[in-house]
Amino acid sequence: MSEVVHTPRVFSGIQPSGNLTLGNYLGALKRFAQAQDNGISSIYCMVDLHAITVWQDPAKLANATRELCAGFIASGLDPARSILFNQSQVPEHTQMAWVFNCVARMGWMQRMTQFKDKAGKNAQNASLGLFAYPALMAADILTYHATHVPVGEDQKQHIELTRDIAIKFNNDYGVDFFPVTAPVIEGAATRVMSLRDGSKKMSKSDPSDMSRINLTDDADTIAKKIRKAKTDPEPLPEDIDGLEARPEARNLVNIYAALSDQSVAQVMAEMGGKPFSEFKPLLADLAVDKIAPISTEMSRLMQDPAEIDRILANGAERARAIAAPILKETYKIVGMVGA
Ligand code: TYM
Repeated sequence: MSEVVHTPRVFSGIQPSGNLTLGNYLGALKRFAQAQDNGISSIYCMVDLHAITVWQDPAKLANATRELCAGFIASGLDPARSILFNQSQVPEHTQMAWVFNCVARMGWMQRMTQFKDKAGKNAQNASLGLFAYPALMAADILTYHATHVPVGEDQKQHIELTRDIAIKFNNDYGVDFFPVTAPVIEGAATRVMSLRDGSKKMSKSDPSDMSRINLTDDADTIAKKIRKAKTDPEPLPEDIDGLEARPEARNLVNIYAALSDQSVAQVMAEMGGKPFSEFKPLLADLAVDKIAPISTEMSRLMQDPAEIDRILANGAERARAIAAPILKETYKIVGMVGA
């Protein structure tokens, strides 16, 4: 069988579960905007069906989906050049997910660390959807034959599972149909840590609001959170090696590097040896400079929810035009009559 060459296509998704964080911005949104500006065909999805794997208040979910869309646009995603849409408007995702539920093995899913973290001690009480979550994620990606998926470090295992599903499907049916997608996990901020605890990921679900910077925070709040960020008493080390075993310092330097589009080595050349009393105000100014305009633009866009709904509906239509023929071909391969 001839090897199919898949044209480069970027796909990624974010859950509309409230409170977009600096982690989402640096690990995902900012890099999505860069991919778009490099001219690569890009599809970005607000994964509302993933969000309901844990309880979501319906009115809040709808608002969070619109706010997430505003966050994409305020971060530089242009709905004319990239496709922006919410998952539930393109039914091909769930149709493909069923096929993948039948390809993925129980043992693969049981190894997913995110399921273990989210299900907690009482896994018997977790939703079936939370367990099947990574198969829907594989469907998101493969229904577009996406070749590249920019994500933060925490999604790596899910992309590996997506690859396993593609490989098993291709083998089982003797085809070379799905691409083996590459995760794109690059830059200084693929794992932004909590501002209160350098061993924990910055997360929208952390009970402490001081642990994260939200894209909706105003300038004063951003500056205050950075001023109060946990650090050790030593000044910054002279070089990168000195950051090892100093997770809080490392995190703030990583954030500085990602926000200023520099490498960690470049930041250390400039900041090495400075006490936090000097470094933190510089970081706070930089963060306010980069994040506050996003927050302002998000609020402006949120004043016209009907326009956001139009953008999502238009994106869904364009997404569907790509997804529908790939699902149809999948059904044909599997042996579904009428496909
Ligand atoms: P989600 O909604 O938790 O996060 C969205 C994106 O933000 C990244 N991210 C971070 N990056 C660096 N540091 C952090 N502290 C941080 N926190 C979050 C995540 O890695 C992610 O890239 N399962 C996905 C959503 C999804 C998806 C997909 C992604 C569904 N289908 C298909 C890619 C392709 C999730 O829950 O991301």
